[in-house]
Amino acid sequence: MPETTWWKRGVVYQIYPRSFQDSNGDGIGDLNGIRQRLDYLTWLGTDALWISPIYTSPMADFGYDVADYCGIDPIFGTLEDFDHLIEEAHAKGLRLILDFVPNHTSDQHPWFQESRSSRANSKRDWYIWRDPAPDGGPPNNWISNFGGPAWEWDEATEQYYYHAFLREQPDLNWRNAEVRKAMYDALRFWLNRGVDGFRVDVIWHLIKDAEFRDNPPNLGFQPNQAEINRFLQVYSADQPEVHEVVSEMRRVLEEYPERVLIGEIYLPLERLVAYYGQDLSGAHLPFNFQLIHTAWNAREIAALINEYEDALPEGGWPNWVLGNHDQPRIGARVGPRQARVAAMLLLTLRGTPTMYYGDEIGIGKVEIPPEAVQDPWEKNEPGLGLGRDPERTPMHWDGSAQSGFTRGRPWLPLDPSFPSCHVEGLRNEPASILMLYRRLIELRRQHLALSIGRYKPIPTEGDVLAYERQHRTERFLVALNLGQKPHAFPLPDGRTGRVLLSTCLDQGEETIGAQVNLRPDEGLIIALQE
Ligand code: NOJ
Repeated sequence: MPETTWWKRGVVYQIYPRSFQDSNGDGIGDLNGIRQRLDYLTWLGTDALWISPIYTSPMADFGYDVADYCGIDPIFGTLEDFDHLIEEAHAKGLRLILDFVPNHTSDQHPWFQESRSSRANSKRDWYIWRDPAPDGGPPNNWISNFGGPAWEWDEATEQYYYHAFLREQPDLNWRNAEVRKAMYDALRFWLNRGVDGFRVDVIWHLIKDAEFRDNPPNLGFQPNQAEINRFLQVYSADQPEVHEVVSEMRRVLEEYPERVLIGEIYLPLERLVAYYGQDLSGAHLPFNFQLIHTAWNAREIAALINEYEDALPEGGWPNWVLGNHDQPRIGARVGPRQARVAAMLLLTLRGTPTMYYGDEIGIGKVEIPPEAVQDPWEKNEPGLGLGRDPERTPMHWDGSAQSGFTRGRPWLPLDPSFPSCHVEGLRNEPASILMLYRRLIELRRQHLALSIGRYKPIPTEGDVLAYERQHRTERFLVALNLGQKPHAFPLPDGRTGRVLLSTCLDQGEETIGAQVNLRPDEGLIIALQE
């Protein structure tokens, strides 16, 4: 019997489906491509895949603009392909988590087409329509997350509609009970097909201020920042009533056994943890993105882990994320040596880790030439480094022309370094980052202390981050050198230890005396002995 539920013990692996594996030569990844790579995911040791949106979509925001919540976009395949994928994934012991995009639809969604057809239409109130301000301009000062005003004028019905993202992504009105019912039915459609859970897109955006008050200006705004930062998002998101919606979604999932609700939430810690809900009736895992935004420095990360552990509500299960399809890759942020330390951190912290495809082969900074840019945000606000294409480039499978990703022309260029960094090659290099990820996942599976065990910080100095993980009689020390100088410190409580794993993957298991010796950029997992 498993000691705890799968989503607490397991490792989640995010697939950006356009870029994982193309099976039909159109240069865009698809469901049958993912199917072909399931054995890779089981070899790697992951427990669950989360696939970014695969629903019917005009792709203005690459699937985050949904035109049919119960359909598969032909670019990705068919509903039958999906059923095969989930069946095969389950047969291999992999869970499947879908993205759910409830805040907005595509402007091509039949609901929006109806809604915009007339003020009297029965779906008018399914979206957020407002009269102009007295001066004829937009109803308030809210800005789109992708730049420019968040209100779009509709000539035919002489009102504005609200879009927190692109104008092609009108926001649904979650205060409307019919909207809620329709969206919960969409969840059930996939749950009935066996989906193991959802990652819910911008869940903290679902409810807006009832009075649509202006957001206050952000006095710290810098001109090199995205325009959305001009104002503090006080009234456009994270409203108290959103928690009722989150717990309703949770109740839908609870109609089925062992499903997981993950919420995408970019908020400071104290507001993030509110999404566990009253008496844990909210999201099982409000995504914790704090590692992405904290400086890569041992002291700040140590403080962050403590703050997070302290902020968690009683019984709330932690989780950690190093990157995703919206954030610069960890390899680009910290460089190849520290990317290995980051892998050890992610996979030894208390809480569910979510990995991002390609990080395990060390994809780093990828330059996207201007003519290859795809991301609508980069197109709207060019040159500020906001574009998300660099973290969405195709996966590297082998040394062939397009690295085995496609036989066609890839929709985004591959990282030119792929000939020396691909799954096939790295699988045969005993000390590669890929083998490190695999070993870390394996250790985590073998030792419950590393997944569900108690977390205890160990005081250290300088560039070293250290902590213990303990479950029953098992006790491990994780020591991570985030700096470029060697560092030594005593083992806790005068113990001795056995090195189980070094991020350098260049030593066998070795018993050590009273002291930990870390090389530059090295992380160690040490089994502590009495
Ligand atoms: C968050 C998603 O992760 C991002 O890719 C998308 O552009 C926005 N939400 C809008 O759906």
